[in-house]
Amino acid sequence: MPSLIPDRPWARRLVYELIYAWPGSRRTAAFNVGFAPVLPDIRNDPVFADEPHQIQLYAELFALAPLDAAAWRRSSVLEVAAGVGGGLLYLQTRYRPGEVIGIDASIVAVRRSRRLGVDSRRGNATSLAFEDCRFDCVVCVDALDYFPEAAFAREAYRVLRPGGLLLLGASAGTFSEAEDRFRRLAGRGRFELERSRDVSGGARLAIEERSRRRAPGMAWLPALVRDRLKETLIREGSERYRRWQSGEACFALAALRRLPFADVGRQSFADGSF
Ligand SMILES: C[S@@+](CC[C@H](N)C(=O)[O-])C[C@H]1O[C@@H](n2cnc3c(N)ncnc32)[C@H](O)[C@@H]1O
Repeated sequence: MPSLIPDRPWARRLVYELIYAWPGSRRTAAFNVGFAPVLPDIRNDPVFADEPHQIQLYAELFALAPLDAAAWRRSSVLEVAAGVGGGLLYLQTRYRPGEVIGIDASIVAVRRSRRLGVDSRRGNATSLAFEDCRFDCVVCVDALDYFPEAAFAREAYRVLRPGGLLLLGASAGTFSEAEDRFRRLAGRGRFELERSRDVSGGARLAIEERSRRRAPGMAWLPALVRDRLKETLIREGSERYRRWQSGEACFALAALRRLPFADVGRQSFADGSF
C-alpha cells in the first residue's frame, strides 16, 4: 500500500497543502518522524501538546549543534522546508537566536507558521531567495527526499557564512548509509561532516507511542483511505512501520561545517562554476 505522499513534485505539493489545511492537523506544530522520550519542557508546553515527539526531534538536532548559548543568541538561522514552523518556534523560545526565518513550498504551512509567530516565507529549497553568506546556520529536517540534494547543498553553501553550520535530519536504510548520504551532500556543497548521531531508537519509540495514541482516531475512515493514511503516518500494520520494527529504517542527525572560500579555491559564486 503506497503512502499518500506522491513522487511527482506538483502532486506532492498539492497533498502537502491538503494535509496542512486538514482540520485534523490544525494543532500539530511539526510533521516528521519524531523522537522519544520527550523532555518535560516540550511535553508540558500546550503549543506542542498534539505531537510533542516531533518537536523533540528538533530538540535533539539543536542539541547536536556545536554552539553554546551565547553563539546561538548571536546566530541568524534559516530553516528550509520548515513546515508549519513548530521547530523554529521551539528554537526561538529555547535558544533565542538573533534571527529565525523559515521557508517552505506550501502556502498553507507558511500561513500557519506565521500564526505561530515565526517569520516564514514561501520558497524553494533549490533556489533560496537570500543573499550570499546571509546565515550562521541552515536547518533542514525530514525533507531531503523531496528535492535534488546537490542543488540544495549548493544553495545552503551559498547562503551560509564561511564556518556556518548546516544541521540536517534525514532517513536512510542504515546509519552508515545515512552518513554516506551526509558525506555525499557535504562533498556537493563543500562542507565538512563535523558530528552525526543515529537517533533511530528514539524515532522507533516515537513511532510506536504515536501509533498507539492515534489508533482509535482512524477507525471511522473508509478502509482504502485508512490504509494509505497508516502508511503515510507510519502507523501499526503499515509496511513502513514493519521496516522500523525490523531495523530496516534509520533516522540520523548531522552537523556539517561550511568550508571557507579559501578551502575550495573560489572567490565568489559569480562565475557559476560552483
Ligand atoms: C515531512 S515535512 C517536514 C516539515 C518540517 N521540517 C517538520 O519537521 O515539521 C516536508 C516539508 O517539505 C516541504 N517541501 C517539499 N519540497 C520542498 C521544496 N522544494 N522547497 C521547500 N519546501 C519543500 C513540504 O511542503 C513539507 O512542509
